[in-house]
Amino acid sequence: MQTFRVAFLGAGRIGQMHLNNLNTIPGVTVQVVADTNADMAARGAAIVNAPRHTSDIMAAIAADDVDAVMICTPTGTHPALIKAAVRAGKPVWCEKPVALSLADVDDLTTFMVDYPDVPVMIGYMRRFDARYQLAKQRLDAGELGEIERWNSKSIDGSPPSLAFIKTSGGICIDMIIHDFDLATYFVGDVDEVMAYGAVLVDPGFIEAGDVDTITVMLRFANGALGVIEGGRRTAWGSDIRTEIMGSKERAFVAFPNSPPQRCQRSGLAGGVTRRGLHRGLPH
Ligand SMILES: NC(=O)c1ccc[n+]([C@@H]2O[C@H](COP(=O)([O-])OP(=O)(O)OC[C@H]3O[C@@H](n4cnc5c(N)ncnc54)[C@H](O)[C@@H]3O)[C@@H](O)[C@H]2O)c1
Repeated sequence: MQTFRVAFLGAGRIGQMHLNNLNTIPGVTVQVVADTNADMAARGAAIVNAPRHTSDIMAAIAADDVDAVMICTPTGTHPALIKAAVRAGKPVWCEKPVALSLADVDDLTTFMVDYPDVPVMIGYMRRFDARYQLAKQRLDAGELGEIERWNSKSIDGSPPSLAFIKTSGGICIDMIIHDFDLATYFVGDVDEVMAYGAVLVDPGFIEAGDVDTITVMLRFANGALGVIEGGRRTAWGSDIRTEIMGSKERAFVAFPNSPPQRCQRSGLAGGVTRRGLHRGLPH
């Protein structure tokens, strides 16, 4: 089996989770953990027994014994780190989102044209989750019929630090970008977007120029309508759900506080007549 030797950048909240996951993946070894905070680099290296840790990020990327680069640093640093790794000819896996602005994404896309042989993947993980894959298979097989509605919810159990919020890009770029990714994956292009945001959880979000509670309405190019709810706190833990509602059936995916592999079949409760009239209630 080919072994990938990785330079791992950024050993904070999500970085430590990925390092723990890498311990369970055969064929990957972490050669070096790099973090601008030397203590975090050491902490990350200890998780995977990496031979080296450093705060010299560029040296970690350039090292001869490194085949690929994983990036878990703050979002604003992603474009420059991706470019450095790609210039060194090293495949990249980078946490979402790509960047803090569309201009930076466009710039990176233009840059990548000169490096067609260096793969870069951004970690929009939900569409690869087994539950979403099951829902997609049902959609592609025509089981759901024509998609009419999309409802999606991402509400964290508790907010990250104010320091993180200030550099995150805001709740849309940082958080419900997962829902935007799923919406385009399942339903397609979006023509119109409208949103209400509010600060209901912590006044610190005002200081950060952000909101902690948001409801977004979407009009898809194919005519379907969608609603995305986002938030930074619930009283009942992380709450992530998606409903894809078609003319025949609905696919429902919920996690993490729900049974594994949950992708409910939900038939036509009450039924629908040929003329589309609900006959569940007497009328
Ligand atoms: N996929 C998800 O659901 C998910 C969840 C959380 C975070 N993220 C993403 O992961 C990224 C990191 O988020 P986090 O919550 O782990 O942040 P964090 O602040 O907890 O950790 C970031 C780490 O990167 C280090 N760092 C800062 N600048 C650096 C640089 N230039 N080079 C190397 N290291 C540097 C910091 O010292 C820190 O240890 C963000 O882009 C965030 O959007 C994704």
